[in-house]
Amino acid sequence: MKKFWCSWIVVACALGTNPAEAAFPRPAVGNKAMVASAHGEATDAGIAVLRRGGNAVDAAVATAFAVSVTLPYSAGIGGGGFALVREGKSGDISALDFRERAPLAASRDMYLDDQGQVRPGASVDGYLSVGVPGTVSGLYALHKKHGRLPWKDVVEPAIRLAQDGFLVSELYAKFFAWRRELLMQHPASRKVFTRDGEHPYAAGELFIQRDLARTLRRIQKDPNDFYRGEIAQAIVADMEKNGGLVTAQDLLAYQPTWREAVCGPYRGYDVCSMPPPSAGGVHIVQILNLVEPTDLSALGWHHPDALHLLIESMRIAYADRATHLGDPAFTKVPVKELTSRAYADKRRAEIDMKKARPSTEVKAADEATLATLAKESHDTSHLTCADADGNVVSLTFTVNYGFGSGVVVPGTGILLNDEMDDFSAAPGVPNAYGLIGAEANAIAPAKIPLSSMSPTIVEKDGVFVFATGSPGGSTIITTSLQVSMHIIDYGMNAAEAVAAPRLHHQWTPDKVRLEALGFDASTIEELERRGHTVESTRGWGNASAVVRRADGSLEGAADPRGEGTARGY
Ligand code: GLY
Repeated sequence: MKKFWCSWIVVACALGTNPAEAAFPRPAVGNKAMVASAHGEATDAGIAVLRRGGNAVDAAVATAFAVSVTLPYSAGIGGGGFALVREGKSGDISALDFRERAPLAASRDMYLDDQGQVRPGASVDGYLSVGVPGTVSGLYALHKKHGRLPWKDVVEPAIRLAQDGFLVSELYAKFFAWRRELLMQHPASRKVFTRDGEHPYAAGELFIQRDLARTLRRIQKDPNDFYRGEIAQAIVADMEKNGGLVTAQDLLAYQPTWREAVCGPYRGYDVCSMPPPSAGGVHIVQILNLVEPTDLSALGWHHPDALHLLIESMRIAYADRATHLGDPAFTKVPVKELTSRAYADKRRAEIDMKKARPSTEVKAADEATLATLAKESHDTSHLTCADADGNVVSLTFTVNYGFGSGVVVPGTGILLNDEMDDFSAAPGVPNAYGLIGAEANAIAPAKIPLSSMSPTIVEKDGVFVFATGSPGGSTIITTSLQVSMHIIDYGMNAAEAVAAPRLHHQWTPDKVRLEALGFDASTIEELERRGHTVESTRGWGNASAVVRRADGSLEGAADPRGEGTARGY
């Protein structure tokens, strides 16, 4: 156990937090309700709504709108996302897909040049990278079905934050510096994100977004304005002027979709997460199936056998992701097969506990295997809200890469996403997160790009136990997975579970990423001895979690890698 705490302190040092505090991370605690999000003012917006008599869904909607104002580099009304909702009375868990869609004018080879090569940056920067946004429609659908307070009350805190401003953080300033060149190319983005057309807001400065406040006021009056009113007209006019593909028809046609969550048992718990077009739920359940026969907690924290098994399981899952996952309206995704015990048993038998297998030797499930099984049977933002009635929302949304496409629609303050990069631009060509794909995730009109977003809710015997999720592109799945395992396998509290060091393998590139200094030298040496290529990097992800304790109280935590907070009462 000693090694565990030492590693943890070092990680905290590297991140610049107080090691004495970080050695024993403590969650926020509440008896009635809890909100955890990636920004303090957004968390406060959720809590304010709960205190006015709202439920967890009202809080989630208010928090998400507030995040759209305070964390424009990660998520917003110009993007899309997914939410998993647990209804307190019935215990039913449902999944809402408000992911962006490809415009009707999108085409399979739209990012290729005359030589058939992917044009660098075309799917990540500027107008052509924009998918039809789903956030406003999704939050409205969520609220309509499960909300308690009037719609205007849950939008109001975000309007105030845009109107009155908030203090820019160091993290925000860093993200701006990273995408500065792109943002400065677009006059409307320049107007919003700089003080005077030249100088970006520095850490500690007040950032006011008047245009966005006006847009949110319109959404407060009528959310359909985004899809068929003045806001829609502004988006379409800007697209037409600049060669973008999103049309009035695209916006009119946009509808979020309620889907069935992907659930699987793990050590007596029921783990539910997002179904396709996210890969999250399928691969979280698949990896848990692969590791479950091994008693990880008996091995001990960060035992090389446990890490090796986890890495090899991730490798298999991400091989399947690249081949089989995509929008279920366009491709048959073998969800049942990939999440079955029988499939896990077959793939587990391939794992050599003494030696890493090169990814070139690890293939996705072939058609014959899937047929047999059928017969037998990541920048983004996450928030987690729970209330006294057992309602829980785990919601992840995004504009994709930092500051999305870099395009702000003039006069609206809306920063548009670059979600089109989550498609596979060409077979085997990695996207911004290094993920590759194939036919299942090829571009097509109105198709939804494959996601890794993994809002997760876990129950035991029908009782809510915890909810979690994270941003982080390709690492979202493995982060949500490991936070879940930290709670289930290692008995950590919410704060420990999100803070503990993580690793990641995504099949290609064939290397395991470890959070720098979170793993001691002898562990890294042992992984290398087994044939793993180890890359130590800075921490990633920005998870949050809410855990229900045995006495019914709630604990919550936001990731120390980010600047979020958890608050309960
Ligand atoms: N944009 C990251 C994801 O959806 O996975």
